[in-house]
Amino acid sequence: ISTESQSILEAHQWLAKLYHHMLLNSKEGQDAYQYLIDRGFSEETIKKYQIGYSPNSKEFVVTFLEKKGFHPQTMVKAGLLNVNDQGEYADRFRGRLIFPLRNHLGKTVAFAGRSLGHQEPKYLNSPETELFQKNRLLYNFDLARAAIRKQKSVILFEGYVDVISADQAGVHNVVGTMGTSISSSQANLLKRYVDQVIICYDGDQPGVEAAMKAGRLLKNTGCQTFVARVPDGLDPDDFIQKHGGERFKREVLDTSDTFIAFIMSYLRRDYNLQLEGDRIAYIEKVLQEVALLDRAVEREHYLNELASEFQMSVDTLKEEVHHIRGKNT
Ligand code: GTP
Ligand code: MN
Ligand code: MN
Ligand code: MN
Ligand code: MN
Repeated sequence: ISTESQSILEAHQWLAKLYHHMLLNSKEGQDAYQYLIDRGFSEETIKKYQIGYSPNSKEFVVTFLEKKGFHPQTMVKAGLLNVNDQGEYADRFRGRLIFPLRNHLGKTVAFAGRSLGHQEPKYLNSPETELFQKNRLLYNFDLARAAIRKQKSVILFEGYVDVISADQAGVHNVVGTMGTSISSSQANLLKRYVDQVIICYDGDQPGVEAAMKAGRLLKNTGCQTFVARVPDGLDPDDFIQKHGGERFKREVLDTSDTFIAFIMSYLRRDYNLQLEGDRIAYIEKVLQEVALLDRAVEREHYLNELASEFQMSVDTLKEEVHHIRGKNT
């Protein structure tokens, strides 16, 4: 690791502390603190995740970093400061709630700043650096690792607050992918620890689309993949805050669908199964998905299901899948 990266790393540890201190102890941080409490986060949780607040001042952080001896240009590169044409520096995250993003060693390597008012973007993330690659970092992996290993299972969320909320509610094997779907390097990392992955993305349309993408990738990585669906367009955090952790476990996690069952219900929305033409097209689509499954027992399971739902012979379906698989290889 270069001296520049070393310096960027140090600056992040200092700033995480400072932002957290400002949230808990400063007058400017009071509204942000209250916002978290109103959303249902406990002080214990705020401390565990070192959530912070960056005061709405251009110089506050600039001065702090300067006093610690950090080069402003390096801090710009790190995405901590902005610089304008006049060469004036300013805190990039000012006025935002701060979520430190920790790497697998527990070191803060980036920040996500959530706006408290209506400023866009809602979340401002650090740019990529040598220390922080968005598609390599799994949010909360450092804290969740022991639970993930023990349970051989991990739950994947879209949002930082979903992860934090679930952990607070007693579900500890939880990580986040930072809004994007999941990358193959993240999937490979998880595969080393778990047998199964439960995708628990937001209940809205983008969440469902992202779950499709993530599911395909995880399947290809060889993970047993499930999809937990949050009802009523809520996201996991909304659900937990509204109904509590017990109901989240019982009604969302414990009723996860296998990935292919999820695909089947997803595809179903596009077809009117009363119509013969639609029915055939739907079955054809499902068979395409079944053909992608590696395990014969799994293929057999879904073929039996399809056969009984549509009163078809399993042998016909098997033959069709055989045919599709032959074409693919
Ligand atoms: P809350 O609104 O605080 O409950 O957060 P959320 O996690 O529910 O937000 P949302 O479902 O809108 O987004 C999920 C994840 O996508 C967030 O945790 C971010 O990682 C990412 N994200 C959301 N909005 C933005 C944005 O404006 N910019 C960037 N870069 N990422 C975003
Ligand atoms: Mn617990
Ligand atoms: Mn969303
Ligand atoms: Mn959300
Ligand atoms: Mn949310």
